[in-house]
Amino acid sequence: MSAIRVSELTKSFGSIVAVNRVSFEVQENSIFGFLGPNGAGKTTTINILCTLLKPTSGEASVYGFDCVKEPAKVRQAIGIVFQDSTLDKDLTAYENLLYHAILYNVDRKLRKTRVEEALRFVGLYDRRNDLVKRFSGGMRRRLEVARAVVHQPKVLFLDEPTLGLDPQSRASLWDFIKRLPSEKGVTVFMTTHYMEEAEVCDRIAIIDKGRIIAEGSPEELKKTVGGDIVYLKTRDNFAAKDILERALGLKPVLREKEMFIPVKKGETLIPEIIRLLGESVISVRLQKPTLNDVFLKLTGKHIRDEEWDSTDEFREAIRAYRRRFDRG
Ligand SMILES: Nc1ncnc2c1ncn2[C@@H]1O[C@H](COP(=O)(O)OP(=O)(O)OP(=O)(O)O)[C@@H](O)[C@H]1O
Ligand SMILES: [Mg+2]
Repeated sequence: MSAIRVSELTKSFGSIVAVNRVSFEVQENSIFGFLGPNGAGKTTTINILCTLLKPTSGEASVYGFDCVKEPAKVRQAIGIVFQDSTLDKDLTAYENLLYHAILYNVDRKLRKTRVEEALRFVGLYDRRNDLVKRFSGGMRRRLEVARAVVHQPKVLFLDEPTLGLDPQSRASLWDFIKRLPSEKGVTVFMTTHYMEEAEVCDRIAIIDKGRIIAEGSPEELKKTVGGDIVYLKTRDNFAAKDILERALGLKPVLREKEMFIPVKKGETLIPEIIRLLGESVISVRLQKPTLNDVFLKLTGKHIRDEEWDSTDEFREAIRAYRRRFDRG
């Protein structure tokens, strides 16, 4: 069963086509990643799915509810963590979640349990009575995830959930996100431009300039790049290069102190290399293709090269949408 269906979705802002005939489906209880550089159209797509923006054309539905015709039903079925924080910093963690539970009509008798359960889920139960302004960036992000699941949504949208967090906070937030499908029955739709994060997704769509340019599991996508790289350091790199060329038909490329060897399948070749070179080997390292290599192959550029190109005006517009959403 598909939790999200998007077909030929297009959104233009004047002459800018932010989302250009995008189509995809997200399976229930999976993690779907929307991967792309700044300005690719990720937030715009999320805003349409969350009923904050109307598409110019095309269709989008969440759990069978049409995002344009049945916005109220869509909103009950979803939770959102926006790109920018929307917590009330002068309230406690508990109060932020309780306020949300009231807004979402969580049954009065269930509110306390649901809020406490969500706080436990992200490991913030012990800090529930602290003001959010005393929280670190990572704790705030975790609290936003907790808030987004208080009303037990079927689909959770996370727009750049880990942007600006240190690696440790990112890893800890990821631990919670990964458990959502199995433990909470939540389908996750997330955007990121951190390639390592996209690796945990079941499926990924790579979006660039409003268009989906590739879709598949991380493994499938990386297979399209083809080939590993073996990095090798030996006591005599020139001699080693010669042996590998003659005996295995490899084409090692010498760099300063090591060589790199493009190969089809590193793990089967490394034992061969070691057998041939024996004790001359100082170090050997295998690098598999990354999602960045996939992006590079498809677009000729790195995913993080582009500069932030949004205007203050745009940010203000998004804030206005949010306020509208909060009011229901
Ligand atoms: N309300 C708006 N008015 C005008 N242009 C907009 C508006 N919202 C988005 N855009 C433009 O649409 C394009 C896609 O923007 P979007 O925010 O969807 O990108 P994104 O993939 O989320 O980028 P980022 O990684 O920087 O968050 C950009 O060129 C942006 O400037
Ligand atoms: Mg965005």
